[in-house]
Amino acid sequence: MPEISVKLGKRAYPVVIGSGMEHRLVPRIRKLIGRNRLFVIYDAQVYALYGQRLGKLLKQVARPVNLVIPAGEKSKTPAQLGRIYDFLLSEKITRSDLILACGGGVVSDLVGYAAATVLRGVPWAVISTTLLGMVDASIGGKTAINHARGKNLVGAFWQPRLVWCDTQYLATLPSRELIGGMGELLKYTGLIGQSVLTKLRAFIDGGDLLDMSRLQPLIVSSVRYKANLVAADETDHSRRRVLNLGHTFGHAIEVGAGYGRLLHGEALVAGLKAACHMSGTTLARKRALQPYCCLIESFMPLIPRPRIDLHRAFEALFVDKKRTGERPKFILLEKLGQPIIVTNVKTDEVRKSLMFALSDFELTGELND
Ligand code: GLY
Repeated sequence: MPEISVKLGKRAYPVVIGSGMEHRLVPRIRKLIGRNRLFVIYDAQVYALYGQRLGKLLKQVARPVNLVIPAGEKSKTPAQLGRIYDFLLSEKITRSDLILACGGGVVSDLVGYAAATVLRGVPWAVISTTLLGMVDASIGGKTAINHARGKNLVGAFWQPRLVWCDTQYLATLPSRELIGGMGELLKYTGLIGQSVLTKLRAFIDGGDLLDMSRLQPLIVSSVRYKANLVAADETDHSRRRVLNLGHTFGHAIEVGAGYGRLLHGEALVAGLKAACHMSGTTLARKRALQPYCCLIESFMPLIPRPRIDLHRAFEALFVDKKRTGERPKFILLEKLGQPIIVTNVKTDEVRKSLMFALSDFELTGELND
């Protein structure tokens, strides 16, 4: 049962990865709460599938108080946050208690932010139930809700005490969510390099996206990579930023499609295609990145093709940043496993890479300067 520490001194915490390890959860939670209380917040789908079983287990530790929130990105709102505050405060939570988030990235973002802010900060932990949550969202303490002006614009860094990744939950994950999680694995492949590329290729060629003997080592490599970056740059001022490989484009494509039409991880696959194209500025680089670009390409047929409003996508990419005097940052690859942060990219290069990634999407609107 691999256990990776996010080394943040006194706030260090373990990310535990394994399959069918629910029986080991009880002593972990007991250690975290002592004689205090446990507040469990579930995503509705996770509650329907696993709520009873988890509830029974957690009763061995404490008398858990539960709240269920609707599944999906639409829950990352002030209204849902308010519901969580109402629940926690009416149940008289204290700063010694523990909030346990059960679900994917939406739940860890939302519940983590509630934990960061209620009573000025209450300890929290995550049972991560999606691939995207396990390899990215639940690790590193980024918590947030969305705002009408964009995703994750209101949030805080608030590290959890434990991240629990039991891959048995992936068996019931809708296939779009699984593919979306693969988008993040593809990102780590570009960042880490050949060793992961070889493993990911073998995993995909194996034809079974739930083959845990192959998937689990990929999750472990990704978590280890992210844990090191978070330990080195907790608040995302320098090295941690490479985790945004493909995200500047991915976010723009998500906006261009209209929120909710593409999952974050799906848009990320197309975003990685654009980033890979933009990285290949010389023939040598293009050649070196070709196996990686091919791997990304092999995922493209698996993502939906909503109509993309180019104007909105480009605005998300450029115009908002220009308004704030900031140049958009792109994470590119010098070669596989060697990310670089670049700000001096020509607008035309950006346009070409975006168009390359969207070549078989139905497009509306214009790309202006
Ligand atoms: N998802 C990127 C980060 O945690 O920094």
